[in-house]
Amino acid sequence: MNHTSILDQLNNIIKQYIALNDEKDALVVDYKDPGELKKIIQFDIAEKGVSENEFLGLLNQYLNYSVNTGNKQFLNQLYSGFNFPAFVGEVVTALSNTSMYTYEVAPVATTIEKEMVQLMNSYCGYSNGDGIFVSGGSNANLVGLFTARNQIAPATRFSGYDASLKLTAFVNEQAHYSFETAANIIGIGAKSVIKVKATYNGSMCSAALEKAILESKERDETPFFVGATCGTTMLGAYDPLDSLASICKKYGIWLHADGSFGGSLILSKDHRGLMNGIELTDSFAWNPHKLMNIPLICSALLVKRKGVLQQNITDINTDYIFHDIDNIEDLGKKSIQCGRRVDAVKLWFAWKYFGLTGYEARIDNIIAMATYAASIIESNEYLELLAERQSFSVCFRYKAPAGKNANEFNLAIREKLRKTGKSMVNYGYLGDTLAIRLITANGDLTKEDIDLFFHNLLACCI
Ligand SMILES: Cc1ncc(COP(=O)(O)O)c(C=O)c1O
Repeated sequence: MNHTSILDQLNNIIKQYIALNDEKDALVVDYKDPGELKKIIQFDIAEKGVSENEFLGLLNQYLNYSVNTGNKQFLNQLYSGFNFPAFVGEVVTALSNTSMYTYEVAPVATTIEKEMVQLMNSYCGYSNGDGIFVSGGSNANLVGLFTARNQIAPATRFSGYDASLKLTAFVNEQAHYSFETAANIIGIGAKSVIKVKATYNGSMCSAALEKAILESKERDETPFFVGATCGTTMLGAYDPLDSLASICKKYGIWLHADGSFGGSLILSKDHRGLMNGIELTDSFAWNPHKLMNIPLICSALLVKRKGVLQQNITDINTDYIFHDIDNIEDLGKKSIQCGRRVDAVKLWFAWKYFGLTGYEARIDNIIAMATYAASIIESNEYLELLAERQSFSVCFRYKAPAGKNANEFNLAIREKLRKTGKSMVNYGYLGDTLAIRLITANGDLTKEDIDLFFHNLLACCI
């Protein structure tokens, strides 16, 4: 195979693919079921490698039948959009293919990650903070919980968990499932995660939290962790960090903020009030791969106090890798991963490209688009909001005709829309009610894109 010729053609393929993002008629996906896909693409690996043409053919097939999350009608997940500088950062990441563990093999990326952590910490008011890029928001929550556990029960690192401690963690009843997975992983068990009642708008009720902590103490348990959410997965609600922080201080509990979805709101002067009190938290999960539109994965766990992350690892037999050359800090010494992608690099390219104010404007636009979408729903006689919009998420449904089950009706609409490939939007349940959940995570969205979404959706309701 001629690599230069493939690269030339790849260049064109990439340019055409990116150009689709500005074409109103381009499909988000040319949907095929698994059987159809297997007929189109030869998935099995043969004895002999493929030819150059076959290789290019596979490349085109992969792109043709994958979901194009850069298409502005991809409104399905908490991430979306095509971010050019971050894409370039992703390409150079693969091109130079190094690992974050040591300065020796990643001098520029190490310096970039430290710079990014410092900048992100400055937004949180963590003046003596630290942080580490991790492999996603779920893992940021895991590392947050794990760090808190190592503070309250340091002996666990070597001796295992003393179950008589009965450690308990508290989260919003609408918090992400990753907290329970994390509790399972660190050995305290998913049942030790106590779900705290949310108010009508989905944010954690602080009075209910205090009550739950006192009840836990009465049961002789050890409350040690509160996981607040900055942007819940369905409603985009923000827990009241200020008042949760006072409660945590009173009872000596670690306060973690899960900003995996909505943490990037901190970049907006106009909207960051929803995160008042972030400087009082002990750790913060911030996922630039969602609202900052960095290609997956790009996620950081920030901590208020330097040194706590180092206590997560055991320091056993690491002299084969960490040589303490020139007394330069190797970031691998505070990561639970060994090999680790240079995920901060694409964020750095994007932040350099847009600048601080450019990124702030993108976040403001995301909120503006969610506000606009909510206003369309309110002014359409066939649609209804199912909850007051809190931030980037708009939960609504089509008012089902008399005699039809509203959940089934709305599910059918969303499935019909998905299969057209014209727009993709997800759904979830608010109690027993199915809600179509529109997420305006793409910083490049315009009102025309939102209008087109509703046009495509309403066409499926006939
Ligand atoms: C509130 C919240 N926390 C955590 C996560 C997990 O983040 P990730 O998908 O990066 O693991 C999500 C994902 O949607 C989320 O909405």
